[in-house]
This record gives sequence, structure tokens and C-alpha cells, in this order.
Amino acid sequence: MMTALLEIENISRIFRTGDKTVNALAGVSLSISSGELVAIVGTSGSGKTTLMNILGCLDQPSSGDYRIGGRSVAGFSADELAASRRQNFGFIFQHYQLLATLSAVDNVAIPAIYASVGARSRRERSISLLRKLGLDDRLDHRPNQLSGGQQQRVSIARALMNGGRIILADEPTGALDAKSGGTVLDILKELHVAGHTIIIVTHDPKIAAHADRIVEIRDGVVVSDRLTHDRQKTDGTLAFSDNTPIGALSAVSRCLLEALRMAIRSLVTYRMRTFLTVLSIIIGIAAVLVAVGFGEGARQKLSDALGAFG
Ligand SMILES: Nc1ncnc2c1ncn2[C@@H]1O[C@H](COP(=O)(O)OP(=O)(O)OP(=O)(O)O)[C@@H](O)[C@H]1O
Ligand SMILES: [Mg+2]
Repeated sequence: MMTALLEIENISRIFRTGDKTVNALAGVSLSISSGELVAIVGTSGSGKTTLMNILGCLDQPSSGDYRIGGRSVAGFSADELAASRRQNFGFIFQHYQLLATLSAVDNVAIPAIYASVGARSRRERSISLLRKLGLDDRLDHRPNQLSGGQQQRVSIARALMNGGRIILADEPTGALDAKSGGTVLDILKELHVAGHTIIIVTHDPKIAAHADRIVEIRDGVVVSDRLTHDRQKTDGTLAFSDNTPIGALSAVSRCLLEALRMAIRSLVTYRMRTFLTVLSIIIGIAAVLVAVGFGEGARQKLSDALGAFG
């Protein structure tokens, strides 16, 4: 039998806050094959996001086993977990989670920084992904200069930056109107046709109906898991999963350089804030100098006066 791509076996996730415990997942087993388009549905609080976080290696189960390509995640070190996240998954969040100070191109390029891809190839790939998603003329816009649907497309491009073999989308259309939601759904379906494995969390039965398989969760357990219809898989027109070259600079220095670059960009973007911060630092330093000056002056004066008395 072929090994499933993602396989969870009787997992639970218990959250403890104070003296309360919540069994967000209580014995879920699920096996997802490569190339599937799966919808996860369920009421609010049923455990969908918790399950997605575990699938994407953003969180670990309290008990039970999770295997990716046959390898148990429980044995992964923190580095291996991060590497698995980077290499296998692309995340699309309900509220986009874009960085406000960065342009569309730079937001899309972020995951590649962690994969140590050089600045130029990062930018080229980011631009080509945004083009494919119809955002040619919005490359340098920041998130607050984009519509909701456009921001969601930027976040899809970001999910695809490192290949995004497995796309985890948590309510990707939740904040969108019907038309933008339809566009996002079409893109996800196109990626599915191009061979990506897609897992979508949704409240919307109309969205779920587009999946090959619908898994329903209630109170942390799977209450139904059914196939809808078989979709023929052909080669898609969107070739999203090409590999990107890895540059020569070491990963650490690249990350530091990148952090510095982002910090400077943030300072430039919020000029007024930067100016006020610098001003307050200057006032602070000046106040200390003045106080010290006064103190020193007074001391001098006093010792002169005392000296005059002999
Ligand atoms: N970090 C946490 N600490 C404590 N409880 C949590 C935590 N995260 C989730 N929960 C609880 O676990 C349960 C499942 O939460 P989860 O976010 O998975 O629900 P969901 O199905 O995604 O809901 P929604 O559709 O509203 O997004 C909820 O009852 C929630 O309150
Ligand atoms: Mg949720």
C-alpha cells in the first residue's frame, strides 16, 4: 500500500489555561494522500484551526502520532520541524497576516529568506508569482493600499514562495465578498490541478462542495469523512512548484542582513514615528547632560565659596 502523505493517528490536543483544560482535539485520525483537495468543516470552536496548526507543524499534538511521508514528527528536533514547515507547507490565513511595512513583492518573498534564497532570485520569483495571480500592477503596494481580495492573493503567492507542495488554507475566503472569494477558490482549484495537495478549512458549504473530500469535525472528533466526486487531474497551466537556487552566503549572515534591511525599511516607512523617537532620545540625553552640568556647576561654586573662607 502507498504511504499517505500526511497521516495522523488518534491525536489529541489539550490546552491548559489556569485550572481549565480544553480538549480541542480528542482522538482524531486522518490520512491525506498527495494531490488531494480536502475541505475541513465544522462549527466555530470545533478544533479546525488546532488541527491545521498540527498538520502544518506549527503546533504539536498532546498525544497520538503524526507522520509526514511516513516519518513521525514526534522525533523531529526544533530545526527539523522548522525545515519541514518551510519545505512542505504554504499557509494561507484568514486574516492574511501580511507585514504592513513591506510591499507586496517583499511580503511574498519572506518565506524564501528563511530558506536562504538570494535577494535577487527571491524578488524575481515573488514578482513572477504575483504576476500569475494577476497583481502585476500592485507589486509595490503595501497591504493597506490593497483590497481584501488582493491581500489574500498576495498571501497565496507567499504560500507558494517555497514551493508550497501542501497548501493549508484556514478560511481563505472568510473575509471576502462572493466575487473575490470565487477568484481565490479558482486559484486554489488551479493549484490542485497543478498537483498541489490542498487542505481548506471553511464554514461555507458552497466552498466545501468544490473539494474531493469533506471532513467534518465536531467537538474535536471527526464525525464524517466522505468523498464528493472524483476530479480528473491534468497538468495545470500554473507551474508554481519550480525550485529556487540557494545562494552562497551563510544562512545566519543572510538572516541578520535581512533583519537589518527590514528594520531600516520600517524606520523609513514610519518617518514621523522614527523622528519622534529620535527626538525623545535627544531630549532625554540633553536633560541628563543639563542635570549633570547643573550638579557639577553647583559643586564647583560651593567648593569655591568654601575655599574663599580658607
Ligand atoms: N491556545 C489555546 N488555549 C486554550 N484554548 C484554546 C487555544 N486554542 C484553541 N483553544 C480552544 O480549542 C477549541 C478549538 O479551537 P479552534 O481554534 O481549533 O476552533 P475552530 O474550529 O478553528 O473555530 P473557528 O471556526 O471559530 O475558527 C476552542 O474551544 C478554543 O477555545
Ligand atoms: Mg479557526
